[in-house]
Parts: sequence; C-alpha cells; structure tokens
Amino acid sequence: MNFEHRSRLAVDLEPILAGRRMRRNRRTDWSRRLVRETNLTVDDLIWPIFLIDGENRREPVASMPGVFRLSVDLAVAEAERAAALKIPVLALFPYTDPDLRDETGSEALNPENLVCRGLRSIKRAVPHIGLMTDVALDPYTSHGHDGLMNGETIVNDETVAQLVHQSLVQAEAGTDIIGPSDMMDGRIGAIRAGLDASGHQDVQIMAYTAKYASAFYGPFRDAVGTNKTLKGDKRTYQMDPGNTNEAIREAELDIAEGADMIMVKPGMPYLDIVRRLKDAFSVPTFAYQVSGEYAMIHAAAQNGWLDLDRAMMESLTSFKRAGADGILTYFAPVVAERLKAGA
Ligand code: PBG
Repeated sequence: MNFEHRSRLAVDLEPILAGRRMRRNRRTDWSRRLVRETNLTVDDLIWPIFLIDGENRREPVASMPGVFRLSVDLAVAEAERAAALKIPVLALFPYTDPDLRDETGSEALNPENLVCRGLRSIKRAVPHIGLMTDVALDPYTSHGHDGLMNGETIVNDETVAQLVHQSLVQAEAGTDIIGPSDMMDGRIGAIRAGLDASGHQDVQIMAYTAKYASAFYGPFRDAVGTNKTLKGDKRTYQMDPGNTNEAIREAELDIAEGADMIMVKPGMPYLDIVRRLKDAFSVPTFAYQVSGEYAMIHAAAQNGWLDLDRAMMESLTSFKRAGADGILTYFAPVVAERLKAGA
C-alpha cells in the first residue's frame, strides 16, 4: 500500500480526531453488537399466510418465491411450525373460489367460509398462537373492491355495516385480532361497538390506519386472485402516496374510535409515516412489508443483484429503527429460523 500522499499533504489529523474516532465502536463484532440500538427479534413478527380450499394443497404464488396458497390442513401444520418458532401471530388471507365471489361479497359473511374454517382448525390445534384476520370485501367480491358498489362508487356506510357483520363472523370463529384493511370511514368505531355488544370485548383491533393506494400490492392480488377481478383502482378509499398529515388525522380517528394498534402500509416506502405516527401517538404501531416489497427483494436476489439474507434483515431492521413495534412480513418463518439459529 502506498501511504505517501499522507506525508505529502502533511495534514496532522490528531488534533482533529482526538476523542472523535467514530470507528472505535465499529472495530469488532462484540463492540458493534454492544452499541447496536435496534435489534430484530422473533417477537416482532406477524406472518401472513394464504388459504385455499381443498386438502393437502400447496400452490406456489408465482410472484412471491417461497410463498404458497395452503389448504387448511397444511396451514395448521405451518401454524404448528410458527408456534414452535415463537412467532406471535399469523394473519390469514383467503383465496376465495371464483364461483363464490359476487357483487356484494356475501361469502365474507358465511360462518363456514375459508377463513372461518382456518381459524377454527388452527385454534383447535395450536391454541397459543395469535390469529389475525383481514376485514374487507375484496377477496369475496366479483369486482375486487374492498366495499360495496353503487354504480362506479364505493359506498361507505353500507359497506361499514357489512364489515361489522364480517367482523362478528370472524370473532365467532375465534379470531384474536381484527385487521380492517378496507379504509372506509368510521369502520373502527362501528366494529368496536359491534364486537363489544356481542360479547367480544377481548378481540383486538389492528387498524390499517395509513394504507396507501400503492403499486406494491400487485403480488398479493395474484395470491388472492383479485388482480383479474379488480375494476379500476382503489384511490377513492386508500390514501394518496403524497400525503403525510392525512395519516395523522387517520390515526387520531382510529385511536379515538377504539383501535388497539395502528399500522402503516406499505412499509419501506413509508418509513417516514411510521416514524411520524410513533412519535405523535403512544400506541403500538406496526408496518406491513407488503407483497411487492417481498417480491422486489427476491427478484433482485434471483438475478444475483442483492444478497437475499442481508437485504431481508436490513429491510426488517429499518422498520424497527423507524419506530415500528412489529412487522407483517412474508419473510417471517425464514427470519424466525435464522434468529433461532443465532446466525
Ligand atoms: C385487501 C388487502 C390488500 C393487502 C392486504 N389486504 C390489497 C389491496 O388493498 O388491494 C395487501 C397486502 C400485500 O400486498 O402484501 N384489503
């Protein structure tokens, strides 16, 4: 190595650096671990899984490597694995048989629908894992929207009434956390009142508080089969990606209406929103690393452009650093295995 430039410049760094060498703390692995501010643990993870009718069925989702649509029997096996790994919560999403989808999403209210069957089977086999279910009509409607349609309009109040009914059906089937992902106005208060009036005071609500009208949901829509059905877009109910003050107002309302936890979605493109909400409200705050974020990391890794493991861990750490208390992520089982191995 050639250090000659140092003597040529004859700069004396000592007075500048004295007591200011930032690299001292970074020098060794033990020291880096010692001063690390943010650590990801298995307790931070919520694992979203996709359900499909049938038995012993395991269908890969093409745009989400490593993710499958599972029949309930196989989902029970995955729940057992998740519980053994100490993942706190599974979030269930149904791929509804296209024949069962209609204009009003009536299958959402069927106590024997896929999600309800999944809830009952998993609860019976794995009582100590938390179960979260999505409240919105999109996996059940023929038009793929989260609400009821009158002409071209997604009607708010009629939709909320149906979402309350959907929540009660899920609560009866044993859900622990209701996750309203529909972005209708007033639904948190209405669902809370409905749950309380029917003896489900203990069912928690994690509000999709700041859910943006995002391009990053594409692979999820493949997984639940709404890419083909969705007519138009969701911009009249999901938030505009340019807004941040609006997220504060949404959070104020959701908390006032009874949300136990709030969520920001998507995740990485909206870390500023996670930080703002966490600083403004002292409530448990979650981020959803959505399907498109998962797909991007996998696609780049498949091309040899990113190291999958490092990109996964760094992306998840960024949520914690931004103030999230936990993350919904399709990486959950892989990360949990990795953390357990202490790698
Ligand atoms: C539907 C719903 C969506 C997601 C969760 N619930 C998609 C959408 O709003 O179109 C997206 C999750 C993901 O992309 O991983 N209400």
